[in-house]
Amino acid sequence: MRIEIVKDYEAMSKRAAYIIASQIVIKPDCVLGLPTGSTPMGVYGELVKMYQEGIISFSQVTAINLDEYYGLDKDNEQSYNFFMREHLFKHVDIKEENIHVPDGKAVDVEAECRRYDNIIKKVGGIDLQLLGIGVNGHIGFNEPGEYFEPLTHLVELAEETIKANSRFFPSIEDVPTRAISIGIKGILGAKKILLMANGEKKAEAIYQMIKGKVTPQLPASVLQLHPDVIVLIDERAAALLRE
Ligand code: PGA
Repeated sequence: MRIEIVKDYEAMSKRAAYIIASQIVIKPDCVLGLPTGSTPMGVYGELVKMYQEGIISFSQVTAINLDEYYGLDKDNEQSYNFFMREHLFKHVDIKEENIHVPDGKAVDVEAECRRYDNIIKKVGGIDLQLLGIGVNGHIGFNEPGEYFEPLTHLVELAEETIKANSRFFPSIEDVPTRAISIGIKGILGAKKILLMANGEKKAEAIYQMIKGKVTPQLPASVLQLHPDVIVLIDERAAALLRE
């Protein structure tokens, strides 16, 4: 793991955007694994600016989203499909057929999960996987548990996750309790991983991810096994690393 500590959210977003832009410049038809949440919002804003300035184009890029709430239609404003369109896709020249997000309304969830894993295989795997991290150490919606789920699967969201994500909903009762998420094998299958975190509320998870044992109780710790991970964090998220 290569740890990069930057001053604040803005510096983190800019640096992450440079790394993603470099990937696109080096391989214009690359496959990007993309997350949602507060963490990557700034990065997406920076990428849109770079696109508008003519520095990068998404015309050959394929996007594979990490996860989606189960039960939400893609046009629902709380869905991750909607989030990605609002924050990135509708502002750049990515082709519709190259956008992939799990279908939160799939009737046959198992078939949807297999379809999603097949897409990842068909596009040749993910070149660069961008990740946030949950306060409980989750990556994607791989929640703490007894074992690592390798493949795309339906997840029962952890209480901490529902609580953390309730800030985006009118009330905690409105937060979906399930989601479809790429599994740990899917994430580790990416050639390169860029995990970002900011703020003191992520400091403990970051500390455990880097210094703790590899355990499904803290899913992000599995990244210790990947050969090419950049951990890009702000000073607050890095607070416990210095002690
Ligand atoms: P956040 O979520 O970026 O909204 O903090 C990260 C996550 O839960 O993975």
